[in-house]
Amino acid sequence: MNGAARSWWRRLSLRRPFGLRLRLTVLYLSFFIVVLLARGWLFRQTLQTIMDGGAGTILEEQFKAAVSYLEPAGAEGRLVWSANASHGETMPLVQSLRRVILITAPGGEQVIEMSETFRRLALTPAAVGVRLSAQNPTSFVQRSADGGSYLVHAGRREDGAIVALGRSLETTDRVVDEFTRTYLVSLPVVILAVGLAGWLLAARALQPLQDVSRATRSITGDSLSLRLQRRGAEDELDQLIDSFNSMVDRLQHSFTQIRQFSIDASHELRTPLTAVRAQLELALLTAQTPEQYREALATAIEDTDHSAQVVKSLLYLSQVESGQVVLAQEPLHLDELTARVAEQFQVPAEAGELQLNIALEAATLKGDRTMMQRLISNLLANAIKYTPQGGRVSVEVSQQPDGRAVLAISDTGPGIAAEHLPKIFERFYRIEERSGGPRGLGLGLSFVSLIAKAHGANVSVDSEVGTGTRFTVRFPATAAAAAAPATPDTATAMSR
Ligand SMILES: Nc1ncnc2c1ncn2[C@@H]1O[C@H](COP(=O)(O)OP(=O)(O)OP(=O)(O)O)[C@@H](O)[C@H]1O
Ligand SMILES: [Mg+2]
Repeated sequence: MNGAARSWWRRLSLRRPFGLRLRLTVLYLSFFIVVLLARGWLFRQTLQTIMDGGAGTILEEQFKAAVSYLEPAGAEGRLVWSANASHGETMPLVQSLRRVILITAPGGEQVIEMSETFRRLALTPAAVGVRLSAQNPTSFVQRSADGGSYLVHAGRREDGAIVALGRSLETTDRVVDEFTRTYLVSLPVVILAVGLAGWLLAARALQPLQDVSRATRSITGDSLSLRLQRRGAEDELDQLIDSFNSMVDRLQHSFTQIRQFSIDASHELRTPLTAVRAQLELALLTAQTPEQYREALATAIEDTDHSAQVVKSLLYLSQVESGQVVLAQEPLHLDELTARVAEQFQVPAEAGELQLNIALEAATLKGDRTMMQRLISNLLANAIKYTPQGGRVSVEVSQQPDGRAVLAISDTGPGIAAEHLPKIFERFYRIEERSGGPRGLGLGLSFVSLIAKAHGANVSVDSEVGTGTRFTVRFPATAAAAAAPATPDTATAMSR
């Protein structure tokens, strides 16, 4: 088999006989066969009705003619063919009418004329009389003893005489049978042609799916930036491509996070580990007294604690980012939560001789309690940590008329220069180590931004160097809060 033939063979999908293509074709063909059979049957019935109707009309006309050529004669009023019926142009007509005929005397019992063909219909005058008692005149189909079927039109005259005329339905039956045979014989050819067309069309319809599957196979862990091209048809396949692309987006995001975690962790741990090793080595070489050893060990413990803290925070941050930590969506009272966190900071605030102002209005939101506490405490910790002695830290909670809860934490600390503002939410970003200033991990604001994002909240910073900083977190409105806007509570203003 040469290359072209092989590819054609493959395209026919014969190697996968129960593939989607075959199933599609079989389904389509089955449906088509049912439709073809139903249509054929309907057409046959319609043809039969039309032809029977035509025969009926002719028979009725013939019946009228026959009746008009009959006239009562003699004292008994017995029906005889009129003089007109037996000569001239009408004679052949009347003769043809008399081929399948029954005429009875007035009263309907005594037969005056019954043709041989009518006799074979096995219809007695009494049987016709019964039908006429239900409807006069009447038409019905009667089978003859020789197997053919006849349409019979019968009527009773005023004097009670019955006239019945029959017409063979042989032609009608033959036409309908002929149609049925031709239809059934041509059916396999049509089914074959339709099946083949369906098979080829299915291949055409599935081609884009194969393209997508081929493109999908080319995406690996190292080529996660690849995306499938949309076809622009805005159809189900484009939707599939969109879903696939967004799945790769999420995968890439997770991969990036894992990679980032490794980079951050190794970078942050390398420096303290080198420092610890250097301290211990120095102590080993130079320390002589137990105090000198103790001091070196204490510094090493402090540094390893710091490293352990970095790893713990980093791990937690990654878990939250990758969705491993499931966030609750419970209704929270931001004011109560803030009051509880602020309480924990009273001692550090007092230690730093800071004035802690707390103004809380009732405000509700939906979120995760632990995460929210983490957000508040990180912002408050920064304000207290970076504000020098004698400064002031303010915590405010309010609910906007549109139902949004707002948390604002401001201080009179050193402020943040404009060039740092866009970066302070990045991991490990610390403004130049302020000499002798507090030591941090540079992760606090990463948590704040992550938690806010997970809650659909927005964090903004206003800061002026030398004057102070204000962090504002705006939460989305909850249905309950929007329905009942908070009234300004008795603001708890605590001053310490
Ligand atoms: N209220 C503030 N006033 C002045 N500078 C601030 C304030 N808050 C944050 N910063 C600056 O932004 C940097 C990043 O803050 P972030 O909370 O992320 O880290 P950190 O406080 O250094 O360490 P930690 O991970 O322990 O919180 C800080 O190093 C600090 O320089
Ligand atoms: Mg911090």
